[in-house]
Amino acid sequence: MEKIEQNLLEKFKEVFGAEGNIEVYFAPGRVNMIGEHTDYNGGHVFPCALTIGTYGVVRKRDDKKLRFYSMNFEQLGVIESTIENLKPEKEAGWTNYPKGVIWAFGEKGMKVDTGFDLLLFGNIPNGSGLSSSASVEVLTGYILKSLFGFNNVTNQELALIGQFSENKFNGVNCGIMDQFAIAMGKEGHAIFLDTATLDYEYAPIKLQNAKIVISCSNKKRGLGDSKYNERRDECETALAEIQKVCDIKSLGELTEEKFEELKGNIDSDVRRKRAKHAVYENQRTIKAVEALKNNNVEEFGKLMNASHVSLRDDYEVTGIELDTLVEEAWKIPGVIGSRMTGAGFGGCTVSIVKDEAVDTFIKEVGDAYLKKIGYAADFYVVEIGDGPRKIG
Ligand code: GLA
Repeated sequence: MEKIEQNLLEKFKEVFGAEGNIEVYFAPGRVNMIGEHTDYNGGHVFPCALTIGTYGVVRKRDDKKLRFYSMNFEQLGVIESTIENLKPEKEAGWTNYPKGVIWAFGEKGMKVDTGFDLLLFGNIPNGSGLSSSASVEVLTGYILKSLFGFNNVTNQELALIGQFSENKFNGVNCGIMDQFAIAMGKEGHAIFLDTATLDYEYAPIKLQNAKIVISCSNKKRGLGDSKYNERRDECETALAEIQKVCDIKSLGELTEEKFEELKGNIDSDVRRKRAKHAVYENQRTIKAVEALKNNNVEEFGKLMNASHVSLRDDYEVTGIELDTLVEEAWKIPGVIGSRMTGAGFGGCTVSIVKDEAVDTFIKEVGDAYLKKIGYAADFYVVEIGDGPRKIG
């Protein structure tokens, strides 16, 4: 048994007692390589699951009680609740995520009839844009499936249930990317997903002497308090304006040329920029995956850089912290590409950095960030891992 598992089991026993059948599960976090803010516009995304993520230690109960404990929020202690009348509550904090998934299972006809004790530990930084919440959702779904014998639920369905719970229970109108990347993760591969159809393909990430480096801005945010839902509304309105003259279901159906032809129908400069990003980013993602298939990592990197510029100037979801991390990264020789990843407004950037430049990257980007922003960024050299699983 790995050290981390042992520590978690010990902590579980200390918090909840040692009796009964205790099991350990894991679900990854994710990083999106390219295709940002396209998943609710019927476009493509290209995320991958990470080897870091969320661990869950769990034991079924005979009564209806739910007891939660997070090693990431130890000051909150044990948070108690019940499986009856599940509803989101501000005071419930992070436990709204697992509770949302129990609720969502019920809505889909899979009633959870007894409670459980659950201890969580995440080694993805909270609120960092690496999908700690989607990781908790998919983890909870996977645990419910195993604990309560919902054996027919596929991993893809776990992704959809996770998204449903986030949309309907937690009130964040997120797309499917995060939960899908986590539930369907595959070591060494990113997932090229068409969010309009859920058709997907695994693409090996062979970086040839380069690493994926994540730079975490440490600017905290949750999607709930970001302008995420506002961006989504802007895109929906822009789509409705285009639909008056063109029969499309989503912005993801448009090529760049077609968009240029139609953009005059969008009645505001701001919405035109938002829609432009959605259309161009989708096309960039298709081109980026093509480049990767042709082993053209340099071209992939250039498209990552262009993605950031579009998110900064047209979609306006970056901010000084993410822009500083990316613009400093671009200055370092050996950086193949760098962009913000996830929803934006804080969180992380993802960069492809040649092996020999990784140390310089961390030092120089780190120093410049501290100097400009006034607090430090954190850096993670990450590996692409598998989806959710039982580990003990
Ligand atoms: C968040 C959402 C995703 C996606 C990204 C932006 O991570 O949860 O569905 O929209 O932002 O690409």
